[in-house]
Amino acid sequence: MTLNVLHADLGDPDADITSHDTYLGGFPHAAFARLREESPVAWIEEGDGSGFWAVTKHADVIEVSRDYNRFTAARGIRIEDMADDELVARRTLMEFDPPDHTRLRRLVQPGFTPKVVASYEEAFRRLARLVLDEVLALGEFDFVTEVARELPIRLLCRLLGVPESDSGRLVAWGDQMISNADPEYTPVIIDKVDTDEYRLLPFRSPAALEVFRYAEEMALERRANPKDDIVTTLLNAEPDGEPLTDLEFKNFFTLMMVAGNETTRHTISHGLIYLRNHPEQFEAWRSDPAAMSKEAAEEILRASGVTMHFRRTATEDTEIRGVPVAAGDKIVMWYTSANYDEDAFDDPFTFDLRREPNNHVTFGTGRHVCLGAALARLEVRVFFEEFLARVASYEVGEPDRLRSNFISGIKHLPVSVKLN
Ligand code: HEM
Repeated sequence: MTLNVLHADLGDPDADITSHDTYLGGFPHAAFARLREESPVAWIEEGDGSGFWAVTKHADVIEVSRDYNRFTAARGIRIEDMADDELVARRTLMEFDPPDHTRLRRLVQPGFTPKVVASYEEAFRRLARLVLDEVLALGEFDFVTEVARELPIRLLCRLLGVPESDSGRLVAWGDQMISNADPEYTPVIIDKVDTDEYRLLPFRSPAALEVFRYAEEMALERRANPKDDIVTTLLNAEPDGEPLTDLEFKNFFTLMMVAGNETTRHTISHGLIYLRNHPEQFEAWRSDPAAMSKEAAEEILRASGVTMHFRRTATEDTEIRGVPVAAGDKIVMWYTSANYDEDAFDDPFTFDLRREPNNHVTFGTGRHVCLGAALARLEVRVFFEEFLARVASYEVGEPDRLRSNFISGIKHLPVSVKLN
């Protein structure tokens, strides 16, 4: 393996990759490097007699993602198994295969084409400037709470059509749901307390009740006053000649809210750390942002790999890389591992803002490829362009990481800046 220049600590090669605690120390790169080398399709026991196949190589992640006939999303996309009633109650676009998936995705796809997303650039740039101009003047601050947590949600509010003044509530609910293993964000810690009474709610989280109530209010409002936004689009939609049911609408709203906010913000925080640890790359980008921004944003996305995995289920007895897999087996695709696969990237542990080609799988691939990829790319690029235009140098303190085997997140990041 190449000398580690991207991560100071590769972690324990024998780390338990299922444990939320493992990720408090960052992504366990050494453990995944070992799996890629020794057992790229590895059976991982979960302790209760069940287990899953951990797919850790780039080529295999692509194969599993693209073959929805052999590997279905309809049995769930997270490691946790769901009973049939849970699956039905919590189903979103993500838990359908074609052709149902295609019909549902078509409802929201037009709002996320590269052309439409490009039209949001000025609005996001203004938001970034507003937030940065206010906070940079402080000199020292928590980058996550003051900047990273603020930005994506504000743009998302505009897209969804919800008032920006509600962004604080939406972020807090999103944190409680997606960060359901971290005690800072929720008292209902998924692997520590009994969440059975919430089993039919997204992320088994009571916060989903509040999001559902909020979505119901939004629906009432938009039925009376339709606008050009995602909420109105969903309410008017008739994917199968019938409108979405109340529950389908609420699950869709929740998905868009969480997926569009909880991911990009962590990418920006990781990027800030990488750039601090690579001053020569920071200087190069700062001196010529126009020439480098696109590739630089891709490299930050590759290196950070914020959604670490998604799951599929085998529909038939089959093989992955020659390893026999039985019908009904759970397959977990580790995107972050694939992004560091030595067979897919030259020197994957080198942070190279000019990396080309950069075929990372941070956004997945195949039919479920991230709907918001163009938006996330724009946000990462524009945020750093505005940051680099203002900051001459900066220091970062120790990141406080999210307890999660799903999202590679940063909860707090002390930063001090020297302005141009
Ligand atoms: C850096 C930021 C982001 C990352 C790392 C990310 C990651 C991903 C990944 C890996 C998938 C594929 C899931 C699968 O294969 O089952 C996905 C799907 C999805 N993403 Fe993102 N995402 C990001 C930003 C966004 C944004 C900004 C939005 C919306 C505003 C969004 C909305 C969605 C939706 C709706 C899906 C489901 C697509 C489907 O099932 O067809 N994401 N995302």
